[in-house]
Amino acid sequence: METNRRSFIKSLSVAATVVAAEAPFNIIKSLKVSPNDKIRIATIGVGIQGHYDTQAALKNPDVELVAVADLYTGRLERAKATFGKDIFTTRDYRQILARKDIDAVLVVTPDHWHDRITIDALKAGKHVYCEKPMVHQIGEGKAVIEAWKTSGKTMQVGSQRISGANFVEAKRMIQAGDIGEINYVESNNDRFNAIGAWNYSIPTDASLQTVDWDMFLGDAPKRAFEAKRFFRWRNYRDYGTGVAGDLFVHLITGVHFVTNSLGPNRIFSSGNLAYWKDGRDVPDILTSIIDYPKTAQHSAFQMVLRVNFANAGAIKNSTRIIGNEGEILIGGNNLILSKRKLPQAPGYNGYDSYFTFSDDVQKEFVKKYDAQYPPETRTAEPVKEIKFEAPSGEDEHKAHFANFFENIRAGSQKTIEDPIFGFRAAAPVLACNKSYFENKVINWDPVAMTLKNVK
Ligand SMILES: NC(=O)c1ccc[n+]([C@@H]2O[C@H](COP(=O)([O-])OP(=O)(O)OC[C@H]3O[C@@H](n4cnc5c(N)ncnc54)[C@H](O)[C@@H]3O)[C@@H](O)[C@H]2O)c1
Repeated sequence: METNRRSFIKSLSVAATVVAAEAPFNIIKSLKVSPNDKIRIATIGVGIQGHYDTQAALKNPDVELVAVADLYTGRLERAKATFGKDIFTTRDYRQILARKDIDAVLVVTPDHWHDRITIDALKAGKHVYCEKPMVHQIGEGKAVIEAWKTSGKTMQVGSQRISGANFVEAKRMIQAGDIGEINYVESNNDRFNAIGAWNYSIPTDASLQTVDWDMFLGDAPKRAFEAKRFFRWRNYRDYGTGVAGDLFVHLITGVHFVTNSLGPNRIFSSGNLAYWKDGRDVPDILTSIIDYPKTAQHSAFQMVLRVNFANAGAIKNSTRIIGNEGEILIGGNNLILSKRKLPQAPGYNGYDSYFTFSDDVQKEFVKKYDAQYPPETRTAEPVKEIKFEAPSGEDEHKAHFANFFENIRAGSQKTIEDPIFGFRAAAPVLACNKSYFENKVINWDPVAMTLKNVK
């Protein structure tokens, strides 16, 4: 591999000098991974999702895991047991970035580390797959985008659902006008169990010896070691992004993908910490109302997102994209399109004011109505239902990584979820939190990617 790489670099060096002024990043990237090379990856953060991400990445051909970094010793040992005893392990991700034999890193840490590690990795010449939400604070997004642009490296943000065939089909249907003009999107993601409410198991050997607590804190406020904060970091704003950053982000990503939207302009949230009063400082019930302005890509629509981690009633989670000619109900790996179109004629009688008119006025009304609305304008189109199932065995997670690796090999930055897209999905969900905690409507400029009501 190294020999291939060296000869490839040598053969391209003259050409690179000539065209570097025009397209420096493409040349540098082509030199890094040639189409036939293996792509050597390292995972930074091998907790729950770090395992799933690494496994999904490795399902793709010619991808090799070289190293992992994590702050808990038990997970480094576990990674060797799972992925092979020869992988390099470290507590310090910078040791991974310093290695020349690693092409790409997977950033699968808690949210408060995403921006720092991503920027460091891009500066170190690595391609980056960064988990959602791309950043922990709205103010961190532009620096990641800048680092990506400057580096010329490939970057993918990890809301893998948009690589599923059902989202691709939903996009096709919406762009073909199958549900008319979108006016409303709603999604519930209720749960009622401790693990669903993020109270993940804490290992029995958790201590200052097995955990690098100082490193974990990073740019968060300094405090004494608490295993709960380390292993259940989602429950604390210092490290996580609440239900909005954890769950709403997937739906917003999906909606932006299918509508080609750049994002909303107005965001309001209301919620409560109703049940899981276990020391967490984020709500377990949150409803956000998010307004999308009319653009060249789509009509104006409203999105209402809800999570209730204390729903002891019947849980009926669903995601519906509604237009004026139908709706798309999105399932795990399927969708149902229901088409329904109003007749042109409004009808009369029934629960209507018609019966309150005098006989003469009723007669006159019917005469005019019949003249205005011939029979063919009076019947609604029958409801048509189209079901779509993703091909059996489809793996959206693998496909999301495939898109990342294909772009690395092609020397392209055009992933399905590049950091501009990633930030346009992350910022509105962070604004959902901002609205909840600051008790105000947040105005966002989706084109400039800036907050509009910052004092
Ligand atoms: N795409 C999805 O569907 C999906 C699903 C779950 C989680 N996630 C995202 O994945 C990320 C990780 O979530 P998780 O559930 O795996 O958390 P986790 O707590 O299980 O794992 C995080 C790991 O990161 C390690 N870590 C923390 N700071 C580090 C640092 N500076 N350097 C190296 N390692 C560090 C911790 O030791 C821990 O093992 C989060 O951003 C989360 O939002 C995405």
